[in-house]
Parts: sequence; C-alpha cells; structure tokens
Amino acid sequence: MSIRIAPSILSSDFARVGDSVRLAEEAGADLIHVDIMDGHFVPNLTFGPGLVASLKKTTRLPLDVHLMVEQPRSFIPPFLEAGADWLSFHIEASAHLDKDISLIKEAGRKAGLALNPATPIHLLNEILPKLDHVMVMSVNPGWGGQKFIESSHGKISGLRRLIREAHLEIAIEVDGGVGLDNMESLILDGADVIIAGAAIFQSPDPRGVIARMRNIARKHESA
Ligand code: DX5
Ligand code: ZN
Repeated sequence: MSIRIAPSILSSDFARVGDSVRLAEEAGADLIHVDIMDGHFVPNLTFGPGLVASLKKTTRLPLDVHLMVEQPRSFIPPFLEAGADWLSFHIEASAHLDKDISLIKEAGRKAGLALNPATPIHLLNEILPKLDHVMVMSVNPGWGGQKFIESSHGKISGLRRLIREAHLEIAIEVDGGVGLDNMESLILDGADVIIAGAAIFQSPDPRGVIARMRNIARKHESA
C-alpha cells in the first residue's frame, strides 16, 4: 500500500501560498490539500477556483481539493476546470450523490466524499464502488489546528474493513488534528492519505516535519 502525505495549505501564510507549496513538493509531499470553504456549509471562507488554477502552474503534485460547500453541484465544474486532480465534497451537502460523483468521474478526475465526524460510514454503502477516495474528518470542518477526535480511529478501521470486504480499491484520507504523534496509528487503522495543516505549517520547520512524515510513511509502504 502506498501512503501519501498531503500538506494542507489552510495553515500556511496566505500571502506566500506558492512558496509553501514549492517547499512541500521539495520536502517530499505527495499531494497538496486545498480547503474550499463557502461561509455557509462551514462558517469560514477560503479560496476559489482562481487559486487552484494558479497552484496548478506552481506544482507538479496533484491537487486534492476538499469542497466544504453547500450545493456542491454548482462548484464542481469550476474546480474541475481549474485543474483539481482529486475532488471531494461532503456527503451531508449533496442530495444527489450519484450525479455529483459522476460529474467528477466523467472528467477523468479522482472523485471522493468527505464525512463529518458524526456521519456514519454506512451512508456510503450504495455509492462506495464509484468512489476513488473517502475523507474521514477527524475534526469538525472549518478551521485548522483543532484537536483530533479520538473516535475517528474506529471509524477509519471500520471503513477499511468495509472497503476490503467489498474488494474495492479506495483511498482513505484522514483530515484534521493529524501530526507526527498520531499518523502512524492512523496508518495502522487503514488510512493511506495523511492530511496535515497546522502540524506542518505552524511548525518552525515545515520541511523537517514533512520529511519525517515521509519516513514514517515509507516504513509502512515497504512492510
Ligand atoms: C479543516 C480542513 C483541514 C485542515 C486540517 O476543516 O478540512 O484540511 O486544514 O488542518 P489541521 O491539520 O491543522 O487540523
Ligand atoms: Zn480539508
């Protein structure tokens, strides 16, 4: 299993996002996680498709775009157009999951669903075979730097079991409160995309943290 490290630019200096993305790429990141917040689904506001289009020219790494928006249908086309490689929206925000996921798949991109901490994994049953990834939110979405919700461990291992029993190949992303202290246990639970914002960009040595995360990941890749 390959483990991917996905730094989240939400905790980076917004005046220097391009520099942060270049640093992450040089330090060994595998994906760049881009949080899109609309001020409705979550109270905070972040970026639009314009930033994604600019980042596309800045890095060769795939962009993992996480839509925390109401009415994802209206945001999916502009973010596909901007170059999102992996695109996920919240299961709680869409009444037409099959249609919305199909829009992403038809564009040839990786389609995913994000689940809030209290949203049960059994809601994925019907749509699971169409997904490339599932994002388990281990904080309530909206802000970086929050505390990891411990019940996410059981949720991730339950989801990994569900995916294995269905003989599917689906990546499990874990998003929120993840850092060097807990990433290894999350890999053991079955997560294979480690998203981290504050642990990287609020650290005095972002490059060093990414390198250490990459080393932990490598240990599990070769196992
Ligand atoms: C939270 C975002 C996360 C955030 C994680 O709503 O979806 O991607 O950047 O940040 P940390 O790692 O600081 O919890
Ligand atoms: Zn996110």
